[in-house]
Amino acid sequence: MSLHTPICDLLKIKWPIFQGPMGGATTPGFISAVANAGGLGTLALGTRPLEEARKLIKDTLALTKNPIGVNLVLEWDQKERLEMSLEEGIKIIWFFWGDPTPFVKQIHDAGGKVIHTIGSSEQAKKSVEAGVDIIVAQGWEAGGHIWGEVATLPLLPAVVDVVGKVPVVAAGGIADGRGLIAALALGAAGIVIGTRLLASHEAEIHPMYKEKIISAKETDTVYNDLFDIGWPNSWMRTLKNSTYQKWAEAGSPKPGNRPGENEIIARLPNGKEIPRYSYMLPGATMQGELEAMALYAGQSAGLVHEIKSISDIFDEITSDALSVLSEMTKFTK
Ligand SMILES: Cc1cc2nc3c(=O)[nH]c(=O)nc-3n(C[C@H](O)[C@H](O)[C@H](O)COP(=O)(O)O)c2cc1C
Repeated sequence: MSLHTPICDLLKIKWPIFQGPMGGATTPGFISAVANAGGLGTLALGTRPLEEARKLIKDTLALTKNPIGVNLVLEWDQKERLEMSLEEGIKIIWFFWGDPTPFVKQIHDAGGKVIHTIGSSEQAKKSVEAGVDIIVAQGWEAGGHIWGEVATLPLLPAVVDVVGKVPVVAAGGIADGRGLIAALALGAAGIVIGTRLLASHEAEIHPMYKEKIISAKETDTVYNDLFDIGWPNSWMRTLKNSTYQKWAEAGSPKPGNRPGENEIIARLPNGKEIPRYSYMLPGATMQGELEAMALYAGQSAGLVHEIKSISDIFDEITSDALSVLSEMTKFTK
């Protein structure tokens, strides 16, 4: 048996499951593992230099025959990264934040599809008017940066109700087969999974960060604007850590007055210094006080207990989802 929804045909993917684009965790091995498992793998290009971003795309395409997407955050000028991605043959462009209107025709003319992550039904309506093909409704349980303060459960049906025939995909708080079926029941055509996939063998993040995720409870994250990224009003969800605790104990002071401001807490292998309050997450090869860095994770961390391969995660989620679905028939008479 399989779970097949309209987004599977639209994007030519086996399962209605998208890997959440995750800036600091975007590597060819990780993205291609998702694509090879039958989900949508997406490279988050952030503000990467153009040629570095092009190489990431080429290296990822060399590892999979399946479609992959590119994620562009519209807080920053993305014209050149978009043009380059289309040039490299990417047919799925996934925007976050901002207004995708100026880019939709260009992507459609290139034979591509446009996805947009939003956080309210008002934003969803605007995206549909702009011609977006798939809406991602991101609840504030989500890990990483969040565009809204509404939880997935009320957000998703509210968005489904205003977008007409445009498929909606649910993001935030989903980590297993139960979550997948719950999202479908609320009208979604699929799900986005971020935090759960960080706890995979293929995610090139530091082992300490993976351990923190699998040992976290659902109460261990916090919605905050603590880590500096140069993106005004961009709130995020991270695990509570020592940097957060000290800042909260100091009365949550504004930048400039935060405890340990500008202290160097970690380093990249090339010696590059990472100050406390940097937006960077602990990469696989970093050294230092990594626990004090930005440990992005959603409330779904409380549902993640084991580090597995991406293909095992997909097998588990999809087979559990099918069992949940057949179990539920017992409620019908
Ligand atoms: C480490 C991390 C980095 C993220 N970076 C991005 C990003 O660059 N672009 C984006 O659209 N979303 C980003 N997100 C949000 C995810 O794409 C997705 O909405 C979220 O992970 C879904 O919630 P979940 O973590 O509960 O699965 C990030 C999330 C995490 C955990």
